Amino acid sequence: MVEPKYVAPTGTSDILYPEVERRNCIVDKARRLLDLYCYQEMIVPTFEHTELFVRGIGEATDIVSKEMYTFGDQRGSSFALRPEATSGIVRAFIEHSLYTKSMPQKYFCIGPMFRKEKPQAGRYREFYQIDVELLGAAQPSVDAEVIALLMHIFQDLGLKNLTLKLNSMGCRICRAPYREELVGYLRKVEKGLCRNCRERIKKNPLRVFDCKVEGCRHLLREAPELISVLCAQCQEHFEEVKKYLGVMGLDYELDPKVVRGLDYYTRSVFEVVSPSLGAQNVIGAGGRYDYLVEDCGGPPIAGLGFAIGIDRTSLAMKRSGLKGYEDKSLALFIITTSHHLRFETIKRLDILRHQGFSAEMDHLSRSMKAQMRLADKLRAKIVIFIGEDEIRKGVLGVRDMATSSQEEVPFEDLLDYLYQKLGRKEKWGARG
Ligand code: HAM
Repeated sequence: MVEPKYVAPTGTSDILYPEVERRNCIVDKARRLLDLYCYQEMIVPTFEHTELFVRGIGEATDIVSKEMYTFGDQRGSSFALRPEATSGIVRAFIEHSLYTKSMPQKYFCIGPMFRKEKPQAGRYREFYQIDVELLGAAQPSVDAEVIALLMHIFQDLGLKNLTLKLNSMGCRICRAPYREELVGYLRKVEKGLCRNCRERIKKNPLRVFDCKVEGCRHLLREAPELISVLCAQCQEHFEEVKKYLGVMGLDYELDPKVVRGLDYYTRSVFEVVSPSLGAQNVIGAGGRYDYLVEDCGGPPIAGLGFAIGIDRTSLAMKRSGLKGYEDKSLALFIITTSHHLRFETIKRLDILRHQGFSAEMDHLSRSMKAQMRLADKLRAKIVIFIGEDEIRKGVLGVRDMATSSQEEVPFEDLLDYLYQKLGRKEKWGARG
């Protein structure tokens, strides 16, 4: 083994087999459900004008103030690798006047996001999200429906014992007096707070609830909670959301400390916690953002959504013993007994692949025995032998690997024989 000259940058990773299979399974299952719930895919750029994120996510958030990968171009414009997809989707929604179409509109986007965070298990600098957004509906039934979709995806993946945490962030009306009340409280306990939290008092006091420092957490137990001072409309909205969740049989835990790290949230916010993960145990989170479209220069249109962290979801599945994918097997392996028959072999291989069979042959001039071992390793269902004898007789040797029975099949009957053996379906892919 050689010492690698280059390694992947800190906080990024190469996703190899079989991990890549589990992640594909997460995406495939999510796509199937997103289709069922009538969402359309939208692909937005992996970088945007920095200003969009500053406006959308909020200048004082950790994401914008510390974690963005920002770079310029020759004209002096500033861009940032997307730390999330919501801002981009909202920008596209406005740019393409999608608000002129009938509401609500439902979009999803799957891909990598970038945050310059301190890497640890479940927290990376490049990570993947399934981001889901619904625009143009302020009704509480929609909050419940979006949360139900999030839980449905996790349920479909087989994840159990998840906790859905729910809170309301209120609106501009109830947040302003609450902010003052909170700042008043924080000033009183300021000496006991960490440096970050002391900074937050000035810039963005609600963020103190994100702090992981035990001393701060202890002091915040007595802090006033927004949930208890919601305005009448926000209170009513929240009550309705809870009722709709109840109707759908969805359990939740009210957690007034759930504030999420993005400034655009209003009213419902939620997160899903996996018991099998450590400190970074939130596998999906989201909320309502009724001012974001307007703040980004669009009409006053309400919205909400969530993002599933694919990396953490995959980790939670792995730790719960959920493979998510089926082991690969091969329909056919063609063995040639003579090196000069490799032209005939590759021709047959090509025909069979065009018929939709997953098929392999040996290119490294292995012995018969070694080719058989390879067929076994690849879990081939059927092995086809092509040798001088077979060619002379116009047949192929065909072995059923499950029963070890072998017979000779005339060239012209091979396809029918294989259809009969493997069943007639559209594709005999790598999963049999
Ligand atoms: P977020 O809470 O920042 O929300 O991220 C959503 C999920 O992405 C997290 O719950 C976590 O699973 C995953 N995640 C976040 N940061 C990392 C990281 N550094 N490494 C690994 N996974 C990570 C948003 O991004 C919002 N845009 C969600 C949303 C959509 N809200 C409304 N619509």
